[in-house]
Amino acid sequence: MSIAQGIIVSMERSSWIREMFEQGQRLKEIHGDDQVFDFSLGNPIIEPPPQVHETLIRMLQDDQKGTHRYMPNSGFPQTKAFIAQELQEEFGLSFQASDVVMCVGAGGGLNVLFKALLDPGDEVLALAPYFVEYGFYAQNHGGVLQVAETNEAFQIDLGKIEEAMTAKTKIIVVNSPNNPTGVVYPQQTVDGLGKLLAEKEKEYGHPIFLVSDEPYRHIIFDDLSNCSVFHSHSNSAMITSHSKDLALAGERIGFIAIHPDMEDRIDLQNALTLTTRILGFVNAPALMQRILPHLKGVKVSVSAYQHLRDIFYQALTDFGFETIQPQGAFYLFPKSPIADDVDFVKQAQEENILLVPGSGFGCPGYFRISFCFTEDMIVRSFDRFEKLAKKFGLS
Ligand SMILES: Cc1ncc(COP(=O)(O)O)c(C=O)c1O
Repeated sequence: MSIAQGIIVSMERSSWIREMFEQGQRLKEIHGDDQVFDFSLGNPIIEPPPQVHETLIRMLQDDQKGTHRYMPNSGFPQTKAFIAQELQEEFGLSFQASDVVMCVGAGGGLNVLFKALLDPGDEVLALAPYFVEYGFYAQNHGGVLQVAETNEAFQIDLGKIEEAMTAKTKIIVVNSPNNPTGVVYPQQTVDGLGKLLAEKEKEYGHPIFLVSDEPYRHIIFDDLSNCSVFHSHSNSAMITSHSKDLALAGERIGFIAIHPDMEDRIDLQNALTLTTRILGFVNAPALMQRILPHLKGVKVSVSAYQHLRDIFYQALTDFGFETIQPQGAFYLFPKSPIADDVDFVKQAQEENILLVPGSGFGCPGYFRISFCFTEDMIVRSFDRFEKLAKKFGLS
Protein backbone atom coordinates (compact mmCIF):
# COMPACT_ATOMS: atom_id res chain seq x y z
CA MET A 1 0.00 0.00 0.00
CA SER A 2 1.42 3.38 -0.95
CA ILE A 3 -0.69 5.40 1.47
CA ALA A 4 1.28 7.05 4.29
CA GLN A 5 1.34 5.01 7.49
CA GLY A 6 -0.07 7.85 9.62
CA ILE A 7 -3.02 8.29 7.28
CA ILE A 8 -3.72 4.54 7.27
CA VAL A 9 -3.88 4.65 11.07
CA SER A 10 -6.14 7.73 11.02
CA MET A 11 -8.42 6.11 8.44
CA GLU A 12 -8.70 2.96 10.55
CA ARG A 13 -9.43 4.98 13.67
CA SER A 14 -12.17 6.92 11.96
CA SER A 15 -13.55 4.02 9.94
CA TRP A 16 -16.60 3.77 12.21
CA ILE A 17 -17.60 7.30 11.13
CA ARG A 18 -17.51 6.16 7.52
CA GLU A 19 -19.42 3.00 8.39
CA MET A 20 -22.11 5.04 10.10
CA PHE A 21 -22.34 7.37 7.13
CA GLU A 22 -22.61 4.42 4.74
CA GLN A 23 -25.25 2.76 6.89
CA GLY A 24 -27.20 6.04 6.86
CA GLN A 25 -26.99 6.14 3.07
CA ARG A 26 -28.20 2.52 2.88
CA LEU A 27 -31.15 3.30 5.15
CA LYS A 28 -32.07 6.30 3.00
CA GLU A 29 -32.00 4.16 -0.14
CA ILE A 30 -34.24 1.54 1.46
CA HIS A 31 -36.72 3.76 3.30
CA GLY A 32 -36.53 7.09 1.42
CA ASP A 33 -34.88 10.32 2.62
CA ASP A 34 -37.89 11.54 4.57
CA GLN A 35 -38.15 8.34 6.60
CA VAL A 36 -34.56 8.50 7.84
CA PHE A 37 -33.87 11.05 10.56
CA ASP A 38 -30.28 12.01 10.01
CA PHE A 39 -29.20 14.12 12.96
CA SER A 40 -25.55 13.21 12.55
CA LEU A 41 -24.16 16.18 10.62
CA GLY A 42 -23.71 19.83 11.59
CA ASN A 43 -24.48 20.94 8.05
CA PRO A 44 -27.31 23.52 8.28
CA ILE A 45 -30.07 22.88 5.76
CA ILE A 46 -31.32 26.47 5.99
CA GLU A 47 -30.38 28.85 3.20
CA PRO A 48 -28.12 31.87 3.79
CA PRO A 49 -29.94 35.16 4.56
CA PRO A 50 -31.22 36.75 1.29
CA GLN A 51 -28.70 39.60 1.56
CA VAL A 52 -25.91 37.12 0.77
CA HIS A 53 -27.21 36.29 -2.71
CA GLU A 54 -28.36 39.88 -3.34
CA THR A 55 -24.86 41.16 -2.56
CA LEU A 56 -23.22 38.51 -4.70
CA ILE A 57 -25.47 39.31 -7.68
CA ARG A 58 -24.88 43.05 -7.32
CA MET A 59 -21.17 42.51 -7.09
CA LEU A 60 -20.98 40.36 -10.20
CA GLN A 61 -23.16 42.80 -12.13
CA ASP A 62 -20.81 45.65 -11.22
CA ASP A 63 -18.24 43.89 -13.40
CA GLN A 64 -15.33 45.10 -11.34
CA LYS A 65 -12.09 43.94 -12.95
CA GLY A 66 -9.75 41.78 -10.91
CA THR A 67 -12.39 40.20 -8.73
CA HIS A 68 -10.99 36.72 -9.18
CA ARG A 69 -7.26 37.41 -9.05
CA TYR A 70 -4.70 36.52 -6.38
CA MET A 71 -4.47 38.98 -3.51
CA PRO A 72 -2.20 39.41 -0.47
CA ASN A 73 -2.09 36.01 1.25
CA SER A 74 -3.70 37.33 4.43
CA GLY A 75 -6.70 38.71 2.50
CA PHE A 76 -8.16 41.87 0.96
CA PRO A 77 -7.11 44.96 2.97
CA GLN A 78 -10.69 46.38 2.84
CA THR A 79 -12.18 43.19 4.27
CA LYS A 80 -9.54 42.97 7.00
CA ALA A 81 -10.08 46.64 7.88
CA PHE A 82 -13.84 46.09 8.07
CA ILE A 83 -13.41 43.10 10.41
CA ALA A 84 -10.85 44.93 12.57
CA GLN A 85 -13.36 47.77 12.99
CA GLU A 86 -16.09 45.31 13.99
CA LEU A 87 -13.78 43.64 16.51
CA GLN A 88 -12.80 47.04 17.95
CA GLU A 89 -16.47 47.84 18.53
CA GLU A 90 -17.22 44.41 20.00
CA PHE A 91 -14.23 44.01 22.31
CA GLY A 92 -13.09 47.59 22.92
CA LEU A 93 -9.53 46.70 21.91
CA SER A 94 -7.42 48.38 19.25
CA PHE A 95 -7.52 45.73 16.51
CA GLN A 96 -5.76 46.76 13.29
CA ALA A 97 -6.39 45.27 9.85
CA SER A 98 -3.02 43.54 10.20
CA ASP A 99 -4.32 41.57 13.22
CA VAL A 100 -6.82 39.86 10.92
CA VAL A 101 -5.91 37.00 8.59
CA MET A 102 -8.67 35.70 6.33
CA CYS A 103 -8.90 31.92 6.28
CA VAL A 104 -10.55 28.99 4.54
CA GLY A 105 -13.21 28.27 7.17
CA ALA A 106 -12.42 27.75 10.83
CA GLY A 107 -10.84 24.41 9.94
CA GLY A 108 -8.41 26.13 7.58
CA GLY A 109 -7.72 28.80 10.21
CA LEU A 110 -6.87 26.23 12.88
CA ASN A 111 -4.41 24.56 10.51
CA VAL A 112 -2.79 27.86 9.56
CA LEU A 113 -2.39 28.79 13.22
CA PHE A 114 -1.15 25.36 14.33
CA LYS A 115 1.39 25.33 11.48
CA ALA A 116 2.63 28.74 12.59
CA LEU A 117 2.99 27.80 16.28
CA LEU A 118 3.82 24.12 16.63
CA ASP A 119 7.28 22.57 16.77
CA PRO A 120 7.49 18.78 16.66
CA GLY A 121 6.21 17.29 19.93
CA ASP A 122 4.47 20.47 21.10
CA GLU A 123 1.21 19.79 22.82
CA VAL A 124 -2.24 21.12 21.99
CA LEU A 125 -4.66 20.81 24.87
CA ALA A 126 -8.37 20.38 24.10
CA LEU A 127 -11.25 20.08 26.54
CA ALA A 128 -13.38 16.94 26.26
CA PRO A 129 -15.81 16.58 24.64
CA TYR A 130 -14.04 18.23 21.70
CA PHE A 131 -14.29 18.59 17.92
CA VAL A 132 -12.52 15.46 16.70
CA GLU A 133 -10.60 17.26 13.95
CA TYR A 134 -8.39 19.01 16.54
CA GLY A 135 -6.38 15.79 16.86
CA PHE A 136 -5.83 15.54 13.11
CA TYR A 137 -4.99 19.24 12.82
CA ALA A 138 -2.39 19.03 15.61
CA GLN A 139 -0.89 15.92 14.02
CA ASN A 140 -0.74 17.64 10.61
CA HIS A 141 1.86 20.00 12.05
CA GLY A 142 3.86 17.68 14.31
CA GLY A 143 1.81 18.49 17.39
CA VAL A 144 0.32 16.08 19.89
CA LEU A 145 -3.25 16.41 21.16
CA GLN A 146 -3.73 16.20 24.92
CA VAL A 147 -7.14 16.24 26.50
CA ALA A 148 -8.45 17.62 29.78
CA GLU A 149 -11.90 16.66 30.97
CA THR A 150 -14.56 19.23 31.76
CA ASN A 151 -16.87 19.05 34.79
CA GLU A 152 -20.26 17.29 34.95
CA ALA A 153 -21.92 20.33 33.30
CA PHE A 154 -19.23 20.26 30.54
CA GLN A 155 -17.79 23.50 31.91
CA ILE A 156 -14.09 24.34 32.19
CA ASP A 157 -12.37 22.61 35.12
CA LEU A 158 -9.20 24.57 35.87
CA GLY A 159 -7.82 21.81 38.12
CA LYS A 160 -8.09 19.26 35.30
CA ILE A 161 -6.47 21.67 32.86
CA GLU A 162 -3.58 22.29 35.22
CA GLU A 163 -3.11 18.53 35.67
CA ALA A 164 -3.04 17.99 31.90
CA MET A 165 -0.52 20.79 31.19
CA THR A 166 3.17 20.08 30.72
CA ALA A 167 6.21 22.12 29.73
CA LYS A 168 5.36 21.14 26.13
CA THR A 169 1.88 22.70 26.19
CA LYS A 170 1.91 25.37 23.49
CA ILE A 171 -1.78 25.82 22.70
CA ILE A 172 -5.06 25.46 24.58
CA VAL A 173 -8.14 25.33 22.37
CA VAL A 174 -11.48 26.37 23.78
CA ASN A 175 -14.74 26.20 21.86
CA SER A 176 -17.74 28.20 23.06
CA PRO A 177 -20.59 27.81 22.14
CA ASN A 178 -19.46 24.25 22.14
CA ASN A 179 -19.76 21.45 19.66
CA PRO A 180 -21.05 18.93 20.80
CA THR A 181 -22.50 20.10 24.14
CA GLY A 182 -23.93 23.55 23.29
CA VAL A 183 -22.48 25.02 26.49
CA VAL A 184 -21.25 28.59 26.65
CA TYR A 185 -18.37 29.30 29.02
CA PRO A 186 -18.90 32.16 31.49
CA GLN A 187 -16.37 35.00 31.15
CA GLN A 188 -15.31 34.48 34.75
CA THR A 189 -14.09 30.93 34.04
CA VAL A 190 -12.17 32.02 30.96
CA ASP A 191 -10.61 34.79 33.06
CA GLY A 192 -9.54 32.08 35.53
CA LEU A 193 -8.01 30.15 32.65
CA GLY A 194 -6.14 33.27 31.52
CA LYS A 195 -4.70 33.65 35.02
CA LEU A 196 -3.62 30.02 35.10
CA LEU A 197 -1.93 30.38 31.70
CA ALA A 198 -0.06 33.50 32.83
CA GLU A 199 1.30 31.54 35.82
CA LYS A 200 2.23 28.57 33.63
CA GLU A 201 3.95 30.84 31.10
CA LYS A 202 6.17 32.08 33.94
CA GLU A 203 6.78 28.58 35.24
CA TYR A 204 7.64 27.10 31.82
CA GLY A 205 9.32 30.21 30.46
CA HIS A 206 7.45 30.32 27.14
CA PRO A 207 4.16 31.66 25.79
CA ILE A 208 1.07 29.47 25.90
CA PHE A 209 -1.53 30.43 23.32
CA LEU A 210 -5.19 30.45 24.14
CA VAL A 211 -7.02 29.73 20.90
CA SER A 212 -10.75 30.25 20.75
CA ASP A 213 -12.45 28.25 18.04
CA GLU A 214 -15.74 30.10 17.57
CA PRO A 215 -17.69 29.10 14.47
CA TYR A 216 -20.90 29.27 16.55
CA ARG A 217 -20.20 32.63 18.20
CA HIS A 218 -23.38 34.25 16.89
CA ILE A 219 -25.64 31.27 17.50
CA ILE A 220 -26.31 31.86 21.15
CA PHE A 221 -29.62 31.66 23.04
CA ASP A 222 -31.57 33.29 25.87
CA ASP A 223 -29.79 36.65 25.37
CA LEU A 224 -26.56 35.21 26.73
CA SER A 225 -23.21 36.66 25.64
CA ASN A 226 -20.28 34.57 24.62
CA CYS A 227 -17.07 34.67 26.63
CA SER A 228 -13.99 36.17 25.01
CA VAL A 229 -10.38 35.06 25.31
CA PHE A 230 -9.40 38.62 24.39
CA HIS A 231 -10.39 39.80 27.87
CA SER A 232 -8.44 37.03 29.58
CA HIS A 233 -5.06 36.43 27.96
CA SER A 234 -2.95 38.51 25.60
CA ASN A 235 -1.36 35.47 23.94
CA SER A 236 -4.69 34.64 22.39
CA ALA A 237 -6.42 34.41 19.04
CA MET A 238 -9.96 33.86 17.88
CA ILE A 239 -10.74 31.74 14.86
CA THR A 240 -14.20 31.96 13.40
CA SER A 241 -16.08 31.42 10.17
CA HIS A 242 -19.37 32.08 8.48
CA SER A 243 -20.12 28.40 7.98
CA LYS A 244 -22.88 28.50 10.56
CA ASP A 245 -23.96 32.11 11.18
CA LEU A 246 -24.40 32.83 7.45
CA ALA A 247 -25.00 29.16 6.51
CA LEU A 248 -22.03 29.35 4.10
CA ALA A 249 -20.27 26.15 5.15
CA GLY A 250 -19.40 25.15 1.60
CA GLU A 251 -17.95 28.54 0.71
CA ARG A 252 -15.11 28.19 3.23
CA ILE A 253 -14.76 31.69 4.60
CA GLY A 254 -13.53 32.75 8.01
CA PHE A 255 -10.86 34.76 9.77
CA ILE A 256 -8.23 34.60 12.49
CA ALA A 257 -7.95 37.60 14.83
CA ILE A 258 -4.78 38.05 16.88
CA HIS A 259 -4.94 39.84 20.24
CA PRO A 260 -3.73 43.41 19.61
CA ASP A 261 -1.62 43.35 22.79
CA MET A 262 0.19 40.12 22.01
CA GLU A 263 3.91 40.63 22.44
CA ASP A 264 4.92 38.76 19.26
CA ARG A 265 1.93 40.02 17.31
CA ILE A 266 3.84 41.11 14.20
CA ASP A 267 5.81 37.86 14.06
CA LEU A 268 2.57 35.92 14.29
CA GLN A 269 0.89 38.07 11.60
CA ASN A 270 3.79 37.33 9.27
CA ALA A 271 3.85 33.64 10.19
CA LEU A 272 0.12 33.26 9.50
CA THR A 273 0.48 35.01 6.16
CA LEU A 274 3.24 32.55 5.24
CA THR A 275 1.43 29.44 6.49
CA THR A 276 -1.72 30.42 4.58
CA ARG A 277 0.47 30.45 1.48
CA ILE A 278 2.56 27.35 2.05
CA LEU A 279 -0.32 25.14 3.13
CA GLY A 280 -1.56 25.74 -0.39
CA PHE A 281 -4.59 27.80 0.57
CA VAL A 282 -2.78 30.86 -0.89
CA ASN A 283 -5.68 33.02 0.30
CA ALA A 284 -9.27 32.67 1.47
CA PRO A 285 -11.95 32.70 -1.30
CA ALA A 286 -12.05 36.10 -2.98
CA LEU A 287 -15.77 36.53 -3.65
CA MET A 288 -16.69 35.63 -0.10
CA GLN A 289 -14.14 38.10 1.25
CA ARG A 290 -15.62 40.80 -0.96
CA ILE A 291 -19.19 40.35 0.26
CA LEU A 292 -18.43 40.42 4.00
CA PRO A 293 -18.17 44.22 4.39
CA HIS A 294 -21.69 44.46 2.87
CA LEU A 295 -23.20 42.09 5.40
CA LYS A 296 -22.71 43.99 8.65
CA GLY A 297 -25.04 42.53 11.29
CA VAL A 298 -26.54 39.96 8.91
CA LYS A 299 -26.93 36.42 10.24
CA VAL A 300 -29.26 33.45 10.15
CA SER A 301 -32.27 33.47 12.46
CA VAL A 302 -31.00 32.62 15.94
CA SER A 303 -34.54 32.60 17.31
CA ALA A 304 -35.42 29.84 14.82
CA TYR A 305 -32.56 27.73 16.20
CA GLN A 306 -33.61 28.56 19.74
CA HIS A 307 -37.14 27.34 18.94
CA LEU A 308 -35.74 24.05 17.60
CA ARG A 309 -33.59 23.75 20.73
CA ASP A 310 -36.66 24.29 22.91
CA ILE A 311 -38.91 21.70 21.28
CA PHE A 312 -36.18 19.07 20.99
CA TYR A 313 -34.94 19.56 24.55
CA GLN A 314 -38.49 19.44 25.90
CA ALA A 315 -39.35 16.25 24.02
CA LEU A 316 -36.16 14.44 25.01
CA THR A 317 -36.50 15.31 28.68
CA ASP A 318 -40.20 14.33 28.60
CA PHE A 319 -39.17 10.92 27.24
CA GLY A 320 -36.69 10.54 30.10
CA PHE A 321 -33.39 11.33 28.39
CA GLU A 322 -30.93 13.14 30.62
CA THR A 323 -29.45 16.14 28.86
CA ILE A 324 -28.30 19.65 29.62
CA GLN A 325 -30.03 22.48 27.81
CA PRO A 326 -27.75 23.90 25.09
CA GLN A 327 -26.99 27.63 25.38
CA GLY A 328 -25.75 27.96 21.83
CA ALA A 329 -24.71 26.17 18.61
CA PHE A 330 -27.17 23.56 17.33
CA TYR A 331 -26.39 20.34 19.14
CA LEU A 332 -27.81 18.37 22.05
CA PHE A 333 -25.54 15.99 23.93
CA PRO A 334 -27.70 13.63 26.01
CA LYS A 335 -26.47 10.82 28.19
CA SER A 336 -26.65 7.45 26.49
CA PRO A 337 -29.13 5.19 28.31
CA ILE A 338 -26.49 2.43 28.15
CA ALA A 339 -22.78 2.79 28.88
CA ASP A 340 -21.83 1.72 25.36
CA ASP A 341 -22.73 4.81 23.34
CA VAL A 342 -21.64 3.22 20.04
CA ASP A 343 -24.07 0.36 20.65
CA PHE A 344 -26.84 2.82 21.53
CA VAL A 345 -26.25 4.72 18.29
CA LYS A 346 -26.42 1.43 16.35
CA GLN A 347 -29.72 0.60 18.04
CA ALA A 348 -31.03 4.09 17.20
CA GLN A 349 -30.23 3.33 13.56
CA GLU A 350 -32.74 0.49 13.77
CA GLU A 351 -35.33 3.22 14.34
CA ASN A 352 -33.89 5.10 11.33
CA ILE A 353 -32.36 7.73 13.62
CA LEU A 354 -28.78 8.69 12.86
CA LEU A 355 -26.71 10.11 15.73
CA VAL A 356 -23.03 10.42 16.62
CA PRO A 357 -21.65 8.57 19.65
CA GLY A 358 -19.94 10.68 22.32
CA SER A 359 -16.83 8.51 21.85
CA GLY A 360 -16.30 10.43 18.62
CA PHE A 361 -15.75 13.55 20.77
CA GLY A 362 -13.57 11.88 23.40
CA CYS A 363 -16.58 11.53 25.71
CA PRO A 364 -18.06 8.02 25.80
CA GLY A 365 -21.45 7.48 27.44
CA TYR A 366 -23.18 10.30 25.52
CA PHE A 367 -24.48 10.90 22.02
CA ARG A 368 -24.81 14.00 19.85
CA ILE A 369 -27.93 15.17 18.08
CA SER A 370 -27.58 17.95 15.54
CA PHE A 371 -30.71 20.08 15.22
CA CYS A 372 -29.91 22.30 12.22
CA PHE A 373 -32.82 20.74 10.34
CA THR A 374 -36.49 21.46 9.70
CA GLU A 375 -39.03 21.55 12.51
CA ASP A 376 -41.09 19.04 10.53
CA MET A 377 -38.27 16.50 10.48
CA ILE A 378 -37.52 17.04 14.15
CA VAL A 379 -41.15 16.67 15.24
CA ARG A 380 -41.68 13.59 13.06
CA SER A 381 -38.73 11.92 14.81
CA PHE A 382 -40.18 12.27 18.32
CA ASP A 383 -42.17 9.03 18.35
CA ARG A 384 -38.96 7.19 17.44
CA PHE A 385 -37.07 8.79 20.33
CA GLU A 386 -39.98 7.89 22.58
CA LYS A 387 -39.81 4.28 21.40
CA LEU A 388 -36.06 4.23 22.07
CA ALA A 389 -36.60 5.70 25.53
CA LYS A 390 -39.14 2.97 26.30
CA LYS A 391 -36.87 0.27 24.92
CA PHE A 392 -34.13 1.36 27.34
CA GLY A 393 -36.49 1.79 30.28
CA LEU A 394 -36.32 5.58 30.48
CA SER A 395 -40.07 6.14 30.42
C1 LIG B 1 -16.07 23.23 16.84
C2 LIG B 1 -15.84 23.38 15.38
N1 LIG B 1 -14.71 23.94 14.96
C3 LIG B 1 -14.44 24.08 13.65
C4 LIG B 1 -15.34 23.68 12.70
C5 LIG B 1 -15.00 23.88 11.26
O1 LIG B 1 -15.77 24.90 10.74
P1 LIG B 1 -15.57 25.43 9.26
O2 LIG B 1 -16.66 24.85 8.43
O3 LIG B 1 -15.69 26.89 9.36
O4 LIG B 1 -14.23 24.99 8.82
C6 LIG B 1 -16.55 23.09 13.08
C7 LIG B 1 -17.51 22.62 12.08
O5 LIG B 1 -18.48 21.97 12.33
C8 LIG B 1 -16.81 22.93 14.47
O6 LIG B 1 -17.94 22.37 14.90
